[in-house]
Amino acid sequence: MSRQVVTISELDDDDLGLIYESARAPIDDSLLSGQGVALVFERPSLRTRAACSTAVHELGGYVTFFGDDEIGLDSRESAEDVGRTIDALYSVCAMRIRHHSVFRRIRRATSDRLSLINLLSDVAHPTQAIADVLTIADHFGGGDVSQLSGLRVAYVGDATNVTRSLAVALLRLGVEVVVGAPDGYQLTPGTDEDPLAVAGAKLRITTSAVDAVQGADVVYTDAWVSMGFEEETSRRRVDLASFRVDEALLASASSEAVVLHCLPAHRGDEITDEVLDGARSLAWRQVAHRRSAMIGALRWIKDGE
Ligand code: CP
Ligand code: NVA
Repeated sequence: MSRQVVTISELDDDDLGLIYESARAPIDDSLLSGQGVALVFERPSLRTRAACSTAVHELGGYVTFFGDDEIGLDSRESAEDVGRTIDALYSVCAMRIRHHSVFRRIRRATSDRLSLINLLSDVAHPTQAIADVLTIADHFGGGDVSQLSGLRVAYVGDATNVTRSLAVALLRLGVEVVVGAPDGYQLTPGTDEDPLAVAGAKLRITTSAVDAVQGADVVYTDAWVSMGFEEETSRRRVDLASFRVDEALLASASSEAVVLHCLPAHRGDEITDEVLDGARSLAWRQVAHRRSAMIGALRWIKDGE
């Protein structure tokens, strides 16, 4: 059975530890020499596509990009047949997909031979979470992810795919996570990436942004309108208006607090220019760690073969 990075939840602590470690190790190998990684994107991307492409190149491999119009998952042909085709020609398939259930279907169709990497689904964004943990560890733990226990991270806004993977990853490291979101935008139980199901987790949810960021070491936010929710834009702007990360909100956080955002940012909605461009923002360091995270994931996958 191949190694796969589909959610943080399904990776055990040892595997996650190896991914973090591999992400940081110097690149002195050509692990993917002569090997291809298929990149399937049903939705737009800048950072994730760039991070994958550069990571695979650094490890000596090559990528082939397949866009939504071209591949037509479940319109031109079934997701199962796309999976079987990629399995015949590539050893790793990294996918950004609308419906998380496609991973289950491709796993079944390829008898788990094909290594899958989730590059964002409606449920999870695990490679983003790995990059975020590396970023927070750089700032607070001298690069050591095991030093993050006891830190307080506040997530403010719509509890998204990004929130779920981030929260699971941080809770597993002993970090206290507080999610501030209005009713209807909070974490809900029962998904494949479920922070509410992490055993012994220090997780609190609240409907107040100010309450959420109280004493926080890290304040994190994501888009109010995730991909696929564009028709709800007007309603979301009203419902989430008091969850904007601005200087006034940050006054309730720790005086040393830093700010993270997965990007793309919607300046003036979930975050102000002043905060995103300010001294507390680690958003661009997160971007750089997207490539380290991909290198970590790819090395861990290949080391398992
Ligand atoms: N954060 C992130 O996944 O960015 P892209 O959508 O640009 O890939
Ligand atoms: N929650 C956002 C993340 C984008 C990287 C989305 O799904 O659109």
